[in-house]
Amino acid sequence: MYQTLQEAFNRFIQFLPNLPPQPSSCYVSVVSLESIHQKVYIITGCSSGLGLHLCRAVLAASRLLIATSRNPSKTPELVEEIESAGGTWLPLDVTSTILQFQVAAALQVHGQIDVLINNAGFAIGGVIEDVDLDDGRRMFETNFWGMARLTQLLLPHMRGRGCGTIVNISSGSAVKRMQLIAFYSASKFAVEGFTEALSAEVEVFGI
Ligand SMILES: NC(=O)c1ccc[n+]([C@@H]2O[C@H](COP(=O)([O-])OP(=O)(O)OC[C@H]3O[C@@H](n4cnc5c(N)ncnc54)[C@H](OP(=O)(O)O)[C@@H]3O)[C@@H](O)[C@H]2O)c1
Repeated sequence: MYQTLQEAFNRFIQFLPNLPPQPSSCYVSVVSLESIHQKVYIITGCSSGLGLHLCRAVLAASRLLIATSRNPSKTPELVEEIESAGGTWLPLDVTSTILQFQVAAALQVHGQIDVLINNAGFAIGGVIEDVDLDDGRRMFETNFWGMARLTQLLLPHMRGRGCGTIVNISSGSAVKRMQLIAFYSASKFAVEGFTEALSAEVEVFGI
């Protein structure tokens, strides 16, 4: 998109004069029950594991939760649990070509999103020699590109409001070497690098 770093930087600083005044609530950086209570959360990959547990934790303090999974009809009991506790469950596939419409639907629920938790992800294992590269690419499509696309889609909303929090779920294999999960580890290293750069780029917007 940009020919030089200077071009990218010039584009970046164009945003600065447009910063709206930042409400004091945007400066909450420690997750407390009070801060959860005020904020609208969206979480990816809620049909099991960490995503589901995060949903329950958010709902314990607030009803402002949008839980998502690729196919909610596969887990009707979980949708019922979350929605009867006041949350909302929407279909969202981070690799989908209609992701922007799914994000638009999510934004309509409460008119805003304050906290994005990029949790959706999976691992493939095996010795490097044997892993099918197409499987590796599919995993990157969810673990890295899905996270990146969803982040891109919500950044204008957060920047416009002058606040927001983005949490990218990484892995211990992105900070120390582990055998048999090289491609998964690589995808999470990518998440780490992206997240570091993102943080440096958007903190000026209160994100
Ligand atoms: N488990 C661990 O030991 C561990 C350790 C470190 C980090 N992590 C990370 O923590 C996160 C959650 O892991 P977990 O162990 O809780 O995994 P999990 O139980 O397998 O849950 C993964 C979730 O990701 C969703 N998902 C997969 N592909 C998706 C896509 N294209 N779009 C949207 N959602 C998608 C799945 O939902 P559907 O298939 O229903 O759509 C599922 O709800 C992952 O990012 C993982 O890499 C896990």
